[in-house]
Amino acid sequence: MNGMLWYGADYNPDQWLDRPDILARDIELMKKAHISVVSLGIFAWSALEPAEGDYRLDWMQEVIDRLWAAGIRVDLATPSGARPAWLAQKYPEVRRVNPDRVRQLFGDRQNHCYTSPVYREKVRAIDQALARRFGRHPAVVMWHISNEFGGECHCELCQQAFRDWLREKYGSLDAINRAWNTAFWSHTYTDFSQIESPAPQGESAMNGLILDWKRFVSHQTTDFMKWERDCVREIVPEAKVCVNMMYRFDMIDYFEMGREIDLASWDSYPTWHKPTQTFEETAIDTAMMHDLIYSVKGQPFWQMECTPSMTNWQGVSKVKKPGVNLFSGLQAVAHGADGVLYFQWRQSRGAFEKFHGAVVAHDGREDNRVFAEAARLGALLEQLAPVAGERKEKQAAIVFDWSAKWALEGSQGPRNKGLGYWEEITRHYAALSRLGVNVDFVNEDAELSGYRLVVAPMLYMLREDFAAKLRAFTQNGGTLVVTYWSGVADDTDLCYLGDTPHGLCDVLGLRRLEIDGMYDGETRRCIPAEGSPLAACTCGTLCEVEALEGARPLLLYDEDFFKGHAAAAVNDFGAGRAYTLASRFEEGFYLPFYRGICEGLVTRAWPDELPAGMLAVRRGRFIFLQNAADTPNRAGDVELPAYGTAVFEDGKRIL
Ligand code: GLA
Ligand code: ZN
Repeated sequence: MNGMLWYGADYNPDQWLDRPDILARDIELMKKAHISVVSLGIFAWSALEPAEGDYRLDWMQEVIDRLWAAGIRVDLATPSGARPAWLAQKYPEVRRVNPDRVRQLFGDRQNHCYTSPVYREKVRAIDQALARRFGRHPAVVMWHISNEFGGECHCELCQQAFRDWLREKYGSLDAINRAWNTAFWSHTYTDFSQIESPAPQGESAMNGLILDWKRFVSHQTTDFMKWERDCVREIVPEAKVCVNMMYRFDMIDYFEMGREIDLASWDSYPTWHKPTQTFEETAIDTAMMHDLIYSVKGQPFWQMECTPSMTNWQGVSKVKKPGVNLFSGLQAVAHGADGVLYFQWRQSRGAFEKFHGAVVAHDGREDNRVFAEAARLGALLEQLAPVAGERKEKQAAIVFDWSAKWALEGSQGPRNKGLGYWEEITRHYAALSRLGVNVDFVNEDAELSGYRLVVAPMLYMLREDFAAKLRAFTQNGGTLVVTYWSGVADDTDLCYLGDTPHGLCDVLGLRRLEIDGMYDGETRRCIPAEGSPLAACTCGTLCEVEALEGARPLLLYDEDFFKGHAAAAVNDFGAGRAYTLASRFEEGFYLPFYRGICEGLVTRAWPDELPAGMLAVRRGRFIFLQNAADTPNRAGDVELPAYGTAVFEDGKRIL
């Protein structure tokens, strides 16, 4: 249904089949909490098919009928995230093989071979049994394909699939040998069967192979997801599907998977109230993930999971303080969520997650803080229904490309103890976010038209075609920011020969001379160049030394042998402008830097400077103002309590 914000939870009635009283009470409490949708049966396979081919779907029919009668819709799960013991026992090939080539035993979840024909067949059978029985039930509005896809398998079936994928991609072994530069250490392959996935006792040095293995894993996982999707659609062609994605998840290119689904979603478990982070920092970090997931399809998404209180798996699982569940739910909506759901509806009695927070806790009561706050959020989301479907204006884009990240982090270079890629991205994102600028994330397949500002942090792997897009973007009047360690390698991780940043030297008005790694805590002083609006600051992590060829310096290194060289520079190119940041600066650098850049370039969500902690986000005609601080705060004449939210529609306050 359009025109509403969905509110719900993972619902696992299969854990309560011996308690009809509890199942009945669930519906009563869901109504009180304003629940409109549940993700149903994510781990219910052994209740649905207790023995091979023996389907027991009646209990689920009852559950769905009862939800429907109560006006609650269903995001029906395919149960492939965890398989029954009988399946793992009878068909060993469905169990994953670790990188050291040891096959796993039965246990845990999300550890199946995505290639195994047997696994695919068994999944097809259960998915289609569900689709036949429930696919046209009026309650079913969405399909939740598996759960948190991830991991990799190194079995023989996967090795063969990897080789086939390589053959398809490169055409010949010769092409592979060239693309990976296998002449190095005499690794030249003379037969496809010699190619093996990376292993602790085997290949760990061939960057190109490791990069292609990561791409293959992402491809194969997406292929498995498509298999499930198509099994469902064979029975119900109009079925809508979603997958739940994860925080900073490295193993799947979510842009690739995102193309194959109808709705993107993610599971959000920020460590609120961590003593080493301000509340605002945690909020910005969470906002960054919301914006990344929004960007996966450039459309509203769902926050598929979060906890109404605490998790049970973090180092320390802190309870969300009063008001924080409202804050986090509304923050998701501000950044483009059309659905806010919990893990889970009712707290499990036993096993791994028995102490994970849920809307209904072990006491089964509704008169407690957590339930009351959950019910209040449900009521507010009903009130905010007009926000549903609203898009976010294109303003700034940060380039984030999974392949480029894998290549960057997979290379041995100036700082093997960690490049802090997310940290780098966060600095740019946090400044833009504090300025109330909308940020999308784009990969190297993206079209850049429509954006005013494009930021490319550590774009080590820069494809020729994307370099051309960055050039055209700037030429046509865009503002480009590129950092150190960009434009180094091509898409098979072969270094570009000649001047770098490859394809961008004239756009940036400079070329790279050297790059120096810094130890943790080691910094270099920078001072403003003449006439520069930027203030003196320090930098670290990596210090790149540039030869300016047209660019004007903004900051100069003031120490070490590269003293006097530009640490930041700007170049006019065509109708646009390109900035180079040659190092990672102290955090305080970024806000004034971007404030200057954004002046006159984009309309910020809030017209005035906001005090620390206040964050403003524009979503279509709505503006969300949130107090991401532990104490009351004000912006203009709007006063907000700690974690408070105000919402404006066309300038008029509606919350
Ligand atoms: C993940 C899973 C859920 C549950 C939660 C707990 O997001 O998808 O099944 O385990 O974590 O936080
Ligand atoms: Zn496998």
